[in-house]
Parts: sequence; structure tokens; C-alpha cells
Amino acid sequence: MEPLHNPIYLTVAFKQAGETALSDRGMDLKYSREENPTVRELEHRLASLEGGVDAIALNSGMAAISLLYVSTLSAGDEVLLPMEGYGTTIQLAEELSKFGVRVKLVYPSADSLVDAMGEGTKLVLVETITNPTLKVIDVEKVVKRAREVGATVIVDNTFSPLVFRPLKLGAHGVVHSLTKYIAGHNDVLGGALVWGALEGEELWHWRRRLGSIIQPLDAWLTIRGVKTLELRFERQSKNALAIAEFLSEHPKVKAVHYPGLRDDEYHGIARKLFERPLFGGVVSFRHAGGKNGAKDFLCSLRRVFPSPSLGGVESLASYPIISAAKTMPSERRELLGITADLIRLSVGIEDLDTLIEDLDRALGG
Ligand SMILES: Cc1ncc(COP(=O)(O)O)c(C=O)c1O
Repeated sequence: MEPLHNPIYLTVAFKQAGETALSDRGMDLKYSREENPTVRELEHRLASLEGGVDAIALNSGMAAISLLYVSTLSAGDEVLLPMEGYGTTIQLAEELSKFGVRVKLVYPSADSLVDAMGEGTKLVLVETITNPTLKVIDVEKVVKRAREVGATVIVDNTFSPLVFRPLKLGAHGVVHSLTKYIAGHNDVLGGALVWGALEGEELWHWRRRLGSIIQPLDAWLTIRGVKTLELRFERQSKNALAIAEFLSEHPKVKAVHYPGLRDDEYHGIARKLFERPLFGGVVSFRHAGGKNGAKDFLCSLRRVFPSPSLGGVESLASYPIISAAKTMPSERRELLGITADLIRLSVGIEDLDTLIEDLDRALGG
């Protein structure tokens, strides 16, 4: 009898009398901090999603980034990051100075990253679409230069699963916060590192040492998310494009950032990189009523929840200066256009008219 769905192995350990069972990667299956069949099933699916050699799943996106830093960097190495990125990714890199790792932060564009790379660059970590102003980085150029200088280049592809496959362009690996689109229901924290050219054995060792494997139930829920990812991402992208177009025409809106809009500065790069014209569910806009207008808007929403995550089935609205960009120095915020009137939406799969009605009402008609 074979079940339709893969089972959830909710067990800490496996019986071990004499010979242990070896997993497909030659690991002794004995203890769930080291390996678990439900987790392994998720890893196969993630590797196939990104076209990678293999994948390792962890208990959050930050656990994946920690694993990446710990396994690739040593004292004296330099890590290069765009200055607009997930705040905790940048903070953790900066904290590594106490272990002798140097961090270089540059403006989020391929040209700045290419100019900043040199012989001393060990690791380049780049998010395809920046958060919250949605600049798209030409990852192709970044990968090419990183390969020339001998740096390891990893793409955080959290914002563009399915449509963008950095490994095809030659990136060494791809990081995901599974918490976002891939698990997709705002109920699971998870992360992954998928690779084309990294030392897999080292990654498994480090996960075992750090104890950061994803839990079996969370892995199972994430597998369920992978099954509907395409449907959700398509719907979210279509809803988001319609909302970006609606906001562009709205008298209470000063500017809209969404790479799916034809006149968006980053539309061309996104069209070049993405395999399909789907640009995700995240849209950000500037409220014409300034800081107070933005706050009133957030308090007036009824169907869209004011909450900081993204990528799930429910639509959320967040206020970047108190969430994504809270710890960013004010000069950097100014340079990047993260203003007090900026709101970030993560558009879900709900009925579009209902969402537009809610946004319009919260904007004051
Ligand atoms: C692009 C990106 N990478 C990584 C992370 C960290 O993921 P997690 O919250 O699952 O640790 C986030 C979280 O928002 C993110 O947006």
C-alpha cells in the first residue's frame, strides 16, 4: 500500500541495530538533526525547482544565510552585499567582523557590485529584487564578474521563485526564505540553500553542527506549498500588476514601484532575467499625504492586514521605516528612496475587486 502523500516522519531518532539505513546522499539515517526523510523529500523538490544539484533545508531563511556565511567565510575574507537587502542578512554579515570577516556594502545595482568586486572578494550575496523599493539587479552581470574574480556568488531568490533561475546563469547557489512564497501560507518558517557548485558535504556538516534543520511538519507543509506555488505565484503576480496599475492612476499616490509596470525603471532588467512575465506580489508606493497619510492608510485597511511578512496567500501591508528598513541609517534610507510615506504591499490571492475596493477606501476614495 502506497500513500498518495509522502509521510511526515515525526521522530527524533531511527532504530539502529547493526547496520543503519543509508540515505540517497550516503548519510546514516539515525537522528533527525542530521537527516529526516520528510526533509529530504522537500530538498529534492527544491533542487528540482531551481534546477540545482541538491538542496539543504533549514528552519528559517536566516538559518540558510547563517549556514552560507559560516560554511564559506574565514577570517580575512570579504563579503560584498548591496546596501538594500534584507536587514538581518546585512546585520549578520556586519557582526562577522568579530571573527575577522570584512563587509562591503554598495548601492544595489549591477554596476556598483561589479565595480566593487576584486581579488579579495570571497562571497557576493545578492537579492534579485530589493526590498522595499523593488530595484531589480542584473544578476547576469554580477555572476559574470564574480566568476572572473573567483568569488562565490549566491542569489537570494526569495522574491522571484519559479520565474528566475540563477543557477542557469552560473550562480554557485540560491538561497530562499521558504517562509515567503514557497511555503506560501504565512504559517511556516523555513529556509533553503540550493546549489549548482558548492561543497555539499560541508553544508550538511555545518547544518548538523548548527542544529538548524527544518522540522518535519514544517518540511511537509512546505512540500504542500511547493505543489501550489505556480498557481499562487501567478495569481499574486496578476493581482499585484492590476493593483500597481490602479495605484499609478490614484490621486493620493505619489509614485509606485513595481517591476511589472511597463514604465518602471527596472522592467527591462526583469523581462531579461525572468523566464515568464510574472513579477511577484510585492508592490510599494508613496502616499501623497506623507507620513500621516501612510499611517492613516494602514489603520484604515479592513481586508489587507497590516503585517510585515510577504509572499503568502493573504494580502499584507507594511510600513518599511518601522519594519524592513527600521535599523537602516537614515542617510542610507534617503539614498535608496525609503521615505516616511512609503508603504509596501504583499498581494495575496484574494478576489481582486475586493482588494482594490479596500485600498481605495483606505486611501480615502
Ligand atoms: C529576501 C529575504 N531573505 C531572507 C529573509 C529571512 O527569512 P526568514 O524570515 O525566513 O528567516 C527574508 C525575510 O523577510 C527576506 O525577505
